[in-house]
Amino acid sequence: MVKKIAILPGDGIGREVVEGAVEILKTIGHYYRHEFDFQYGLIGGEAIDQCGTPLPDETLELCKQSDAVLLGAVGGPKWDQNPAHLRPEKGLLNIRKQLDLFANLRPIQAHPTLQDTSPFKGEHLEGVDFLIVRELTGGLYFGKPSERTNQNGEEAVVDTLFYKRKDIERILETAFELARKRRKKVTSVDKANVLESSKLWREVAEEVAYRYPDVELEHMLVDNAAMQIIHKPNQFDVIVTENMFGDILSDEAAMLSGSLGMLPSASLSANGLHLYEPVHGSAPDIAGQGLANPIAMILSAAMMLRYSFHLMEEAGAIEKAVKHVLESGKRTKDLTNHPNQYVPTKQMIEEIKEALADDFAIL
Ligand code: NAD
Ligand code: IPM
Ligand code: MN
Repeated sequence: MVKKIAILPGDGIGREVVEGAVEILKTIGHYYRHEFDFQYGLIGGEAIDQCGTPLPDETLELCKQSDAVLLGAVGGPKWDQNPAHLRPEKGLLNIRKQLDLFANLRPIQAHPTLQDTSPFKGEHLEGVDFLIVRELTGGLYFGKPSERTNQNGEEAVVDTLFYKRKDIERILETAFELARKRRKKVTSVDKANVLESSKLWREVAEEVAYRYPDVELEHMLVDNAAMQIIHKPNQFDVIVTENMFGDILSDEAAMLSGSLGMLPSASLSANGLHLYEPVHGSAPDIAGQGLANPIAMILSAAMMLRYSFHLMEEAGAIEKAVKHVLESGKRTKDLTNHPNQYVPTKQMIEEIKEALADDFAIL
């Protein structure tokens, strides 16, 4: 059966890396005989320029009529001074909300072949393999009010961290389900020594844990978690946390993988329509120069094959091809210390395609 995939390239390097994912999926389709139908939609800055809104209705409709969504990245200096509702980032937040993509999975793995360029010592990265489960449709990003205001004539501002119990419950359940298929440990990260929202989060975590007696639950304060991720990263299996905590901790944890350009993600809903996006942004500092690492995006496509289409072998083939290319010493600029020894984005994509073809020939 044809699998309909909505492709939303977005801005900056989003466009460059999305093409990589499409190329790789075409290669997978060719070898494993799947038919993928790619339909393109606008989001972010480009959508503001062409349609006057960061998430046009047609884009949302396209997504709803697809089996899965692949998104590059949005944003850039051109739109940074726009009012909140006309910022590219609003398009991303809206699509997450509209499609109810409440669970953002960000897997962190250290790649032994990248140790030479890692800021961490070899043994530090041994056994590093954890999953950040970031709540994606609530918390500080969506709470109302969020506005400039004034108090007794003085300029003031408010953002709101709001959660319903059931929203906390479903993200924790997702984390426990995922932990059950892994090493059976959940670290729930909060700020329960200060925040009311975290106190409820902790209570709900305890209740959910009661239903998963085979999974160990620990609580960790977010400031300590930020330190522990660097100090002893192999202590973690599944980390589950509030929207903004998860945003910050995952960029930090990306460095264990070697680069932000290595980190994929899956944004899952309860209704079966999921979105896949790299953790990184549109990287205006390197956009248009062929310097983007396409691996985060390509691994996001592999997550799509696994979570949306249950094509485990095909997903594994992509991950293996990426590993082969890295082992062969081919690196984009973010992964090398040698200023002149790197391959441009397009060549990296070609290398991964070739590795896929080579692997398939051996099968
Ligand atoms: P960023 O993730 O775009 O870039 C941070 C740093 O990492 C930059 O130095 C960049 O060059 C580097 N980098 C990121 N991805 C890379 C890749 N694939 N290969 C090589 N290097 C890579 O974050 P930022 O600079 O803080 O934000 C830039 C814009 O992107 C902003 O408008 C922000 O709002 C937006 N953003 C969007 C998303 C998204 O669409 N999901 C995520 C984060 C940031
Ligand atoms: C991410 C990004 C977004 C977020 C921004 C661009 C709204 O940083 O996907 O990690 O904070 O969720
Ligand atoms: Mn982020």
